[in-house]
Amino acid sequence: MAPYHVMLVHFPIALWTTAALIIILRAFSDGALARRADGALTLLLFLGALSGAAAFTAGLLIWPLEAVASSPLARNHVIFASWSLTYWTLLWLLRWRGGERVWIGLRRWVMVGLAALGFGLQTITGTLGGSLAGTPSAVTAIVRRVVWEVYTTFYLPNWLLILLVVAAALMIAIGFVGKRAPARQPR
Ligand code: HEM
Repeated sequence: MAPYHVMLVHFPIALWTTAALIIILRAFSDGALARRADGALTLLLFLGALSGAAAFTAGLLIWPLEAVASSPLARNHVIFASWSLTYWTLLWLLRWRGGERVWIGLRRWVMVGLAALGFGLQTITGTLGGSLAGTPSAVTAIVRRVVWEVYTTFYLPNWLLILLVVAAALMIAIGFVGKRAPARQPR
């Protein structure tokens, strides 16, 4: 299955990278090119989610799950792959359901922030995959220097987990408050 996984991962990586570039272009420009590129964004993100799910499934079939579970590097790859896939899928739903409204006012900068985070997650997923395949990249070296040693289990301290739960609850509350507020017309 490894060759299929390696072949399949190119699709979500290319689609998500293109989507990130379009989001940056659209955030900085209201011109015709940016609007046309944005017209393809929902489809690109949908195809990214679909091919990401296929790559994820193929990845799970390479090694027995016991082997994956007993290797910190493989576990880290799966954690970041799960985050990347979930994250970009949510971005697709956001753009699809939110439509043109995601570019109004400050929201466009939220989109840029989300795209930057998604790009970071997919980059770490890919570089950990390269390390698993025996071809570590310079990005792995940067991650090891700046964030954590990739050959040990990635974990979040308890205080950060609590912070994440509080932030998630806050965002849901903001969502409910925003839903009740009178809607503004898109530009
Ligand atoms: C969005 C999901 C995923 C992406 C984008 C991704 C990306 C990658 C990349 C870029 C490589 C390196 C290929 C190479 O340099 O030859 C790789 C390798 C690998 N990935 Fe993933 N991966 C994903 C999900 C998974 C999952 C869920 C598993 C489950 C264990 C997994 C297991 C592996 C393994 C075992 C290798 C090494 C393959 C080999 O030995 O050639 N991947 N992955």
